[in-house]
Amino acid sequence: MFEDELKEIERAGLLRKIKDRQSMAGPEIVIDGKRLINFSSNDYLSLASSPEVIRKAEKALIEQGLGAGASRLLSGGTQAHRALERLLCEFKSTESALLFNSGYAANTGVIPAITDSDTAIFSDELNHASIIDGCRLSRAEVYVYRHKDTEELKKLIGTSKKRRKVIVTDTVFSMDGDIAPLSELREIADQEGAILYIDDAHGTGVLGNGRGALTHFGMEPQENIIQMGTLSKAIGAFGAFVAANNSITKWLINTARSLIFSTALPPSVVEGAAEAVRIIMKHPERVKGLWKNRQHLIEGLHSLGIDTSPSETPIIPIRVKSNDSALKISSFLLNRGIYAPAIRPPTVPTPRIRVTVVYGHTMEHLQRLLDALLEAKKCGLL
Ligand SMILES: Cc1ncc(COP(=O)(O)O)c(C=O)c1O
Repeated sequence: MFEDELKEIERAGLLRKIKDRQSMAGPEIVIDGKRLINFSSNDYLSLASSPEVIRKAEKALIEQGLGAGASRLLSGGTQAHRALERLLCEFKSTESALLFNSGYAANTGVIPAITDSDTAIFSDELNHASIIDGCRLSRAEVYVYRHKDTEELKKLIGTSKKRRKVIVTDTVFSMDGDIAPLSELREIADQEGAILYIDDAHGTGVLGNGRGALTHFGMEPQENIIQMGTLSKAIGAFGAFVAANNSITKWLINTARSLIFSTALPPSVVEGAAEAVRIIMKHPERVKGLWKNRQHLIEGLHSLGIDTSPSETPIIPIRVKSNDSALKISSFLLNRGIYAPAIRPPTVPTPRIRVTVVYGHTMEHLQRLLDALLEAKKCGLL
């Protein structure tokens, strides 16, 4: 079954394969027995391998066991879940926070829960697949506006007669590394009486001294803003959360199907994530270190004549001519001990090497990437 279809995607250079890592997640990883410098991770603050985080998770594992055993609404919730939510309120300066099992589960659970058939959703064209799927699962009318085009958004939203309007955007776009124009989006939301739902998966722990995109823009949380953040990227764990006011989280507890009908996060993950959040709050130098590495790499790439636009964050796309050249460059880098994956359609509209820089990268790691890219340029690959 599916053999012909598989052959077809293989012919188009689009066959995906799962790689198995034989080491801990981190700036260096082992794949197929080979030690590689890892430029593919969203563990921006290198907290997945932090000894303090691991110690907390280990203690919870021993004291509370492996799985949560049930949904949060049955017996799966613990004081650890509640304590992490309180910490996330402090972290995001909101009245309330609610855990979800992943960013994917949050977007596919929350978007249908806050919308109905008398709702219009306005979604940026480069929003993450989980937002797209959340919109598909909703009964709302969905309007996709051109990437960051607030003029088009204004026109679309101004003509909608729906009772409820929801603007949905990634804060940091996951494949281009650019940042959504949140101040303008908030202005439009306020004028139109709309909800602004922001997916801060790649902003949490990265922007605004780690507090996220709202802090980055000097914005305060407000009633019509719902923030989604993940525990799976800069926080180095797994899971996600919504930070908003009390009535919204109360509504989600009663309506978000991915929360109601799914087993709660394991306590070890929750305790590990809480320690990671505490580290981010106590040690802003970690976030500064990430940005120092990003600056160094960007300057190096520009000195090689490599265009990194539109990146404004540790996600740096290096655009290439074709799917084939993306695969060739990725394997050229792999042969030089560097893991930087080729990202191709349909994940993105145009092929690229997606490089992510993290806190744990050393200057030597960054130089190795720059040297390999220079060599690739000399060989005519770039
Ligand atoms: C913008 C965005 N939202 C949501 C997700 C999904 O998060 P998770 O990996 O926790 O399911 C991702 C993950 O890649 C993402 O980039």
